Amino acid sequence: LRIPDLIIKKRNGHELSKEEIDFFIKSICESNNNSVIQESQLGAMLMAIFFRGLNFNESYYITHSMMKSGACFDFQKHRNLVVDKHSTGGVGDKISLPLAPALAACGLKVPMISGRGLGFTGGTLDKLESIPGFQVSCTKEKIESLIDEVGCCIVGQTLELNPADRILYATRDITGTVDCIPLIAGSIVSKKAIEDLDALVLDVKVGRAAFMQNQEEAEKLADYMIQISRKLGLKAGVFLTRHDNPLGKAVGNQIEIIETIECLHGNVRHDLEELITKYGGYLLQRVDKCETMVQGAKIILEKLKNGEALEKFRQMLIGQGVSEKIANDLCNRNYDAVFKQKAKYLSTIRAQTNGYIKSIHALELGLLSSKLGAGRAKAGDEIFYEVGMNILKQVGDKIDLNEPWIEVHHNSEHFDTHFAQKLMNSIEIVDYPVQFESSIIKII
Ligand code: URA
Repeated sequence: LRIPDLIIKKRNGHELSKEEIDFFIKSICESNNNSVIQESQLGAMLMAIFFRGLNFNESYYITHSMMKSGACFDFQKHRNLVVDKHSTGGVGDKISLPLAPALAACGLKVPMISGRGLGFTGGTLDKLESIPGFQVSCTKEKIESLIDEVGCCIVGQTLELNPADRILYATRDITGTVDCIPLIAGSIVSKKAIEDLDALVLDVKVGRAAFMQNQEEAEKLADYMIQISRKLGLKAGVFLTRHDNPLGKAVGNQIEIIETIECLHGNVRHDLEELITKYGGYLLQRVDKCETMVQGAKIILEKLKNGEALEKFRQMLIGQGVSEKIANDLCNRNYDAVFKQKAKYLSTIRAQTNGYIKSIHALELGLLSSKLGAGRAKAGDEIFYEVGMNILKQVGDKIDLNEPWIEVHHNSEHFDTHFAQKLMNSIEIVDYPVQFESSIIKII
């Protein structure tokens, strides 16, 4: 087999066999040492897949091959307790951060393999790395011991765990091949399938700040992920959620960690609360820890309010390399002691009119905060953890002329009048009352 032949085959719209897909995935994992595939060939192949797609069989093969590119866990001793959640990515989406410790506080085990920022969306791992000392790269043994002792961890792919996704993910991010159904499905399910889960909940976002812009595409992605999961023996459910507005009030890295800690103190905005508690409730019910999702959601809320989830988060931080002092300071809301690097400037944007907030353009905020340095333009770019946005108002709120609605923490290079104008245009204010609506479209 030769990589150029496979690229041409896919470019011409033909189906790749299991053997060819295995060869492609094996080649990318070996490329660091003996250059079986060049970076340009990987980019070309991803673009061919982007335009020609992968049918269901090819998607299953690529997922399987990625999963097998590294080690798999065996959590037999925790049977019926091992769960996880994953999202297709959003702006301000920090749900995993409080959810994993809340589930651990219920006695469940959450070996969460997560991702970095992709395109305009933030990455759970980047957010966690803004905490001094936090290690996202853990050995398999380390993850197993965190699961035994703490109950949860949030880690990234390594050379040992799904190295294929690590390489594909980073390359997709810089080659315009992120929003591709089979590649998203493969990336997500391959990470989760190595975790030996008893239940998985997937958040498939649809809307202007999601990779899937319309419901039909989102349902196709959901269907691919459910079918592939089933074929791999993984019990997965999907929440189809609307994502037009940012989730929660913080967009960035440090700033989203602060919002997470606030959540873990029970101070949680209702859009976040809805998703954290429902995903948690769904998982609790799937592993028979309660009878209904509603009961499960109540249990999760209780764990956020009574400090037990916070304590699990603190233990996870220490288990993943954070000093006890920093973990305690962070969990005690002593943010200045933890985040010493501050953005140079704080600029406030004000409303241009009176009325009610109908929408806040999450995609625009994601792109703008990435431009300020909260995300990457190319692989390996440095992230400025201190920059980000704090949204002071939410959809449905009444707002007065000149009232501040968003604060931007920045280091000034990209913050000019043009940038400020784009922010001003990202809020829609109407003259009639607007109701908060659930973002959940349906559960599949
Ligand atoms: N999250 C992932 O892990 N992979 C994707 O491709 C998109 C979102």
